[in-house]
Amino acid sequence: MKKLIIGGGLPLKGRIRISGSKNAALPILLASIMVENGVTLSNVPNLRDINTTIKLLSLLGCAVEQNQGEVKIKPQNLLPEAPYDLVRTMRASVLCLGPLLGILGQAKVALPGGCAIGARPVDLHLSALEQMGAEFDLESGYIIGRCQKLRGAHIHFDFPTVGGTENLLMAAALAEGETVLENAAREPEVVDLANFLNKCGAKISGQGTSIIRIQGVSSLSPCKYRIMPDRIEAGTYMIAAAITDGELFLEECPFNELDAVIYKLREMGVWIQEGKTGVLVRRQGTLTGVDVVTLPFPGFPTDMQAQIIALMCIAEGSSMIKETIFENRFMHVLELVRLGANIKLSGQTAMVRGVRELIGAPVMASDLRASACLVLAGLIAKGKTEVYRIYHLDRGYEKIEQKLVNVGARIARVNV
Ligand code: EPZ
Repeated sequence: MKKLIIGGGLPLKGRIRISGSKNAALPILLASIMVENGVTLSNVPNLRDINTTIKLLSLLGCAVEQNQGEVKIKPQNLLPEAPYDLVRTMRASVLCLGPLLGILGQAKVALPGGCAIGARPVDLHLSALEQMGAEFDLESGYIIGRCQKLRGAHIHFDFPTVGGTENLLMAAALAEGETVLENAAREPEVVDLANFLNKCGAKISGQGTSIIRIQGVSSLSPCKYRIMPDRIEAGTYMIAAAITDGELFLEECPFNELDAVIYKLREMGVWIQEGKTGVLVRRQGTLTGVDVVTLPFPGFPTDMQAQIIALMCIAEGSSMIKETIFENRFMHVLELVRLGANIKLSGQTAMVRGVRELIGAPVMASDLRASACLVLAGLIAKGKTEVYRIYHLDRGYEKIEQKLVNVGARIARVNV
């Protein structure tokens, strides 16, 4: 077991290169099982969840070669099963449902349990796939799916589910006829998946809007594809610059995919300037509190909720943040209070009153973005902060200590 020890109070200055997007790479890696003669992906981040997905691809019968950020996937003798001991470590494994049904007509995927931030059901995935002709049984915690050839359907999602939209995009790519997804998720990672599938010969239009149309094709062809940069990692380092009163140049920063985050940070008094090869971020005078509501894209992303709360803790005045996507995504609040933050929770809303300073202490990470929030708080807390359970962090932030040390942070990973 490892922990991070952070010495707070140093402004971060320098350049950080934003890595490939975890949440774009995961579905694209799993979609690759539908491409008979294989694909080559680049800018794939080196993360725990990526390594778990690559392990799953091997279990599904694919040959996978990984060399730095390049991953080659070639389906060989495909098998339809995603086992529980893998799925329980990464819920996103459920994204193999659509590809397996699309290419094999069968799937046996462990029903992902809940996780720290919420129940995370997949009912919307299953009901939409049933409209395309799939049948499901639930046996001993496994979703057993089968179908003849999936057929196109006109689907309306009760909620713009990211994973549900991604599973249906992949399933519809090789289905008979046209599929229409209404109230589809508009997240940039969904767009990246659709663009990847189109590069393999799929016929998808409307990605990035609420209505996506997919004309099924008979097969998908090999391609080379570069994963988009990670907008949540980028947003996290924007806040690192602001919270430490430093100045960071973020190379390959996805500026246009961060409108809602940039708007709110500017409202707080953060200076953000887009350049040719990246984005420059620093404070512009005192930070002031703001109100935020998390929403599906293009609203403020729930994956940036924990990080902006850390910044609100030291902003002048009050801030209010409402979490509307997940039912239990405030576990980082009690840890921030241990550092001296003034936060009150009422249902799905956190009221934050800025304090002059935070004081370092041992804190516990509960999930991926909560762990990022505690690192951000530790960067400015007076004295030493120790962040425990940092395996959460390694799921979604490539080389985070190295990137932070390179810009002046005092941070080290040690054995507990
Ligand atoms: C994706 O999760 C991301 N994960 C999450 O990022 C992100 O927070 C989330 O989208 C929202 O943007 C990946 O892309 C791997 P949803 P996903 O389906 O697909 C409910 C991170 O930190 N729902 O849009 O699971 C669900 O319970 C992670 O990188 C149903 O009720 O999100 C939740 O309340 C955390 N039934 C809401 O919708 C369903 O069938 C959003 O879920 C599906 C979802």
